[in-house]
Amino acid sequence: MALPDDFLYQLKNANSIEGVMSSYTSLKRTGHNYVCLCPFHSEKSPSCTVYTDTQSFYCFGCGAGGDVITFVMKSENLDYFEAVKYLAERGNIPLPDEQFDENSSRIKQRVYEINRLAARFFFSQLKAQRDNNGLAYLLNRGLSLQTIEKYGLGYADDKWNNLKNYLMSEGYTENELIVAGLCIKSKSGNLYDVFRNRVIFPILDLRGNVIAFGGRLLDGEGPKYLNSSDTPVFKKSRNLFSLNFAKSSNEKRLILAEGYMDVIAINQAGFSNTVATLGTALTPEQARLMSQYAEEIIIAYDSDDAGQKATYKAIALLSDAGLKTRVLTIDNAKDPDEFIKKFGATRFKLLLDNSEGAIVYELNKCKNGLDMESDTGKVEYLKRVTHILADIKSSVEREVYISRVANEQGVSKETLLYEVNALVKKQRNMNEKREWRNITNQITAKRDNINPEAAKYPKEAKAETGIIAFLLNNPDKLEFVKSRLQAEDFVTAFNKRVFISIVDKIGGSKDISISSFNDDFTPDEMGKISEISAKTREINITQETVSDYIDVLLSHIDNTANGNDMSDEDFLNFFNSLKQKLN
Ligand code: UTP
Ligand code: MN
Repeated sequence: MALPDDFLYQLKNANSIEGVMSSYTSLKRTGHNYVCLCPFHSEKSPSCTVYTDTQSFYCFGCGAGGDVITFVMKSENLDYFEAVKYLAERGNIPLPDEQFDENSSRIKQRVYEINRLAARFFFSQLKAQRDNNGLAYLLNRGLSLQTIEKYGLGYADDKWNNLKNYLMSEGYTENELIVAGLCIKSKSGNLYDVFRNRVIFPILDLRGNVIAFGGRLLDGEGPKYLNSSDTPVFKKSRNLFSLNFAKSSNEKRLILAEGYMDVIAINQAGFSNTVATLGTALTPEQARLMSQYAEEIIIAYDSDDAGQKATYKAIALLSDAGLKTRVLTIDNAKDPDEFIKKFGATRFKLLLDNSEGAIVYELNKCKNGLDMESDTGKVEYLKRVTHILADIKSSVEREVYISRVANEQGVSKETLLYEVNALVKKQRNMNEKREWRNITNQITAKRDNINPEAAKYPKEAKAETGIIAFLLNNPDKLEFVKSRLQAEDFVTAFNKRVFISIVDKIGGSKDISISSFNDDFTPDEMGKISEISAKTREINITQETVSDYIDVLLSHIDNTANGNDMSDEDFLNFFNSLKQKLN
């Protein structure tokens, strides 16, 4: 459904693209425009441009582009109407007609209700009989009744339809239960409960809504943990378990654990500033979310190999979000939950207080498997350490750690400094090369994706984009173009669609800013349209050039006519267009 132009105008006025983008990435002014590191791919030198005049952006690196709405859709992972609503709220613009999002907000409301009822249901099942499997399991794992109540933990027994029957008796439809992610349909068409024979961990958002569930298997076959799939009210990459408790802990640091049980055990031990991801690796969105509540993160992942690998990745992601990191080293236990159970809360607090800065942690890890008393061990250690030191971004910090290692190992600081600097330089060169390769790869990939025919007909595609760019800048020249060229003459399907859309807009005296294409094109396609506009803005395409472009397209048809492998359909098209031209 189309929104009134007037409303969109106000919306964009209140949300300048540079204003919105600057809260995601830092913008650097270059004359009229801005450049920035692209928020949609990782890069070290900026290839994304923000055009203030057309209120659009385009990344020459990955091909992302569009207007402020496309930007919000892509970065917040929202659909068109959700993005409009988000910007309306941000800019304090009343929505034109509440109706347009009534549907989506009604569905969300229903899912919230379903989740709340389901959480209550699971909780009541847990408390139903003293000796039910779920309660016994949780108590046996060391949770107090108080903790169980605080988290509203629940139980789903091994029947197939308990929750379904209950919720349907409350008036919810099969479809709603599926949308909420609580039931699925079997091949034979029967609806059944997703969570069975599991203890249940409700996941709450910051407003106290139940948005999803995790469930741990009690025994028997199946994955150990199940997590709700993404639903209209839940995106697992954007939420953190227990953030509702952690956010009010008044601590400037958060503890990041791997699983539900770790978080709850750490909480019970007295540290409510603890969160975990929801069955996936840490995402940049979650890192950003944490940075709203803390300055420092203590990573408390499992002590096994997988946990350590994840720790390295988390350090990088959290640092990117501007957070300081420390790492908890858990000896003699596989995870925080087991550690607390074995050694108690006081020992765990000691562990927290002694947690190391991420760099010391990584430096120490380099000693693994080496005989540090032997010369070969020392040499190997210094080699490994050089890599870590070279990765430290701040040069001051780098020097501090270089001195520290040099002192500790009895080598000269200058030598180590020399080695590290040489590596820094080498890596910088390699990075630049890699980045460039990525950029070129991504450009080709993107092109192929959106307009796959361009690779086959490069000359024609170039002519087409030239014509499109010309019309975007000179809508008054539409009649001139139309007098010689029709949509049918376009060779590539994507450019043809853009042309048709332009003709329609100019013909109907509608707006033809980049934004106006949002109605008919996806965010990725918007990137392509922004590319056409961005790449041609410095070039003055004259009417003569456009004439040449038109010749290219018309002669493409002639070429095909000379070939003898024309399909009947192509021939008919060709014949008709010829006839029209002759008339
Ligand atoms: P772990 O297997 O380390 O969980 O997975 P845990 O907390 O030690 O489990 P217990 O103590 O045996 O009960 C850590 C996290 O990874 C996700 C879950 O979010 C879990 O909390 N996970 C694990 C899954 O999503 N699915 C699985 O099958 C296993
Ligand atoms: Mn674990």
